[in-house]
Amino acid sequence: MAESLAFTKTADRKTVYGEIAPQIDALISGETDLIANLANIAAVLKEAFGFFWVGFYLKKENQLVLAPFQGPLACTRIDFDKGVCGYAYTTRQTVIVPNVDEFPGHIACASASKSEIVLPIFDKSGEVFGVLDVDSDKLNDFSETDAEGLQKIIEIIEKMI
Ligand code: SME
Repeated sequence: MAESLAFTKTADRKTVYGEIAPQIDALISGETDLIANLANIAAVLKEAFGFFWVGFYLKKENQLVLAPFQGPLACTRIDFDKGVCGYAYTTRQTVIVPNVDEFPGHIACASASKSEIVLPIFDKSGEVFGVLDVDSDKLNDFSETDAEGLQKIIEIIEKMI
């Protein structure tokens, strides 16, 4: 297992996503424990991009429940019809919210959070297994570059679930 993360600190996000994806793949390939792997992935994303909050919510019965994350404490349970996470779960699509104050039903876990991207994670049967949620303290901080870069990481996760 890699003991440290290598990435170009001055590079643009697209480059950094390209640098960290193979390292995440290598990092989790030797470990079968899902929670351990999600914890390290949250740590890698926090270290590489300095995101305000980055983590996972996993489907447990009829809610999304907080799973490994990095950042300030967060709400523990989200109904499927609530928040950006619930919207991504229900629509089964990546959601980019440039200004969370303009998203009806946004759940403000931290008032410093200004923009957000949430991606669904699918299991092998095609059901949504959970979501990856990334929050920024800057408005309009996420673009297609993040959607594509994070999707590559989701695909690595989907290989193990
Ligand atoms: N803002 C999210 C809730 C989770 S926190 O941001 C960590 C939402 O609206 O679903």
